[in-house]
Amino acid sequence: PLPIIIDCDPGQDDAINLLLAFASPEAVRVLAVTTVAGNVPVELTQRNARLVCELAEREDVPVHAGCARPLMVSPLTAEHVHGDTGIDGLPVHEPAMPLQPLHAVDFLVETLLATDEPITLVATGPLTNLALALARDPGIARGIERIVLMGGAMREAGNITPCAEFNMRADPHAADMVLRSGVPIVMLGLDVTHELLVTRTRLARMKAIGNPVARAAHDMLAFSERYDLAKYGKDGAPLHDPCTMAWLLRPDLFRTRACHVAIETGSPLTLGHSVVDFWNVEAGPRHVQWAHEVDAEGFFDLLFERLARFSVV
Ligand code: BDR
Ligand code: CA
Repeated sequence: PLPIIIDCDPGQDDAINLLLAFASPEAVRVLAVTTVAGNVPVELTQRNARLVCELAEREDVPVHAGCARPLMVSPLTAEHVHGDTGIDGLPVHEPAMPLQPLHAVDFLVETLLATDEPITLVATGPLTNLALALARDPGIARGIERIVLMGGAMREAGNITPCAEFNMRADPHAADMVLRSGVPIVMLGLDVTHELLVTRTRLARMKAIGNPVARAAHDMLAFSERYDLAKYGKDGAPLHDPCTMAWLLRPDLFRTRACHVAIETGSPLTLGHSVVDFWNVEAGPRHVQWAHEVDAEGFFDLLFERLARFSVV
C-alpha cells in the first residue's frame, strides 16, 4: 500500500476523506494525520481528527497538531459552513486517544527526511504546514512522492470570495510556496467538487448502509449541506475533500491536464485566486495535474462501497 500522510482541517468533508482512507488499507497506509487551522482553529481540528480516528477504530494512527495561524494573512475560519465544532452533526467529546507531542511541521520534516520510500501527502486544508516544512528544509521534497490537494478553482470561480476557493484564500502565501516548490502536485478544486453533489437520494443511500460510521458520515453531511444548498441552489451541496482520496484510489474517475498554476498573493481584491494556465499559453513549468472532469456516479459508488466496509457493530 502507498504510504500517505493526510494534512487536514476537519471539517465534515475532511472527516469523510479520512474515513475513505481508513477504509482502503489495501491501497493506502496512513502514516499520520496532521492538522492545521482552517475551517476552525487548530485546537478543534486536531481534536476532530482524533474523534474521526476513534470513530473508525484507528487510534493507532498518530495525530499531530500544526500551525495555528496562516503565514501572513489574518486567520479565516468557516464556522458558518461547518458549525462551531467544525464537524457539527457528529457529537463531540474530548477523545481518549492522545495528541502526539511533536508539532506537525517537525513531524513532517523528520519523517520526510528519514523515509526510504517517498510519501504521498494528501492536503485538504490551508497549506500552512506543508509550506513551513518545505521552507524549514527544502530537502524534504526528496521524500515526497507527490502532493494531492483539494483547492483552487478555474471555471467555478470562488466559494469564500468571488474569485478564491477557501483553502487557497485562507493561506495564499503558503499555497504559493507549495506551488513553487517543484514537487509534483495533483490539484482538485471546485471545478470537480461542484460536480460531486450530496443529493437527498445520495444522503439516503449513505444512511441505508446501516453501520455506525456510515451513519455518522450521513449525519455530518446532513448538517453541512444546509448552508451550501441555500448558497448554490443546486440539487445537493458539493462534497470537496474526499476527491483527494478518490483520485488516489481511482484516478480513472477524473480527467486532469498538466498546467502551470499560480496563486495570487498581491491583490487584496483577488487574494488566493488560482491562476490556471489551462491552455498552456505561457511557458511556466507544467507542474500541476489540474482536475477538470469527474465521474460523479463513480465517485459516490466508490464512497458508498468504502463506507460499507466498516463493521456493523
Ligand atoms: C474547502 O474548504 C473547506 O471549508 C472544506 O473543508 C474544503 O477543504 C472547500 O473550499
Ligand atoms: Ca478541508
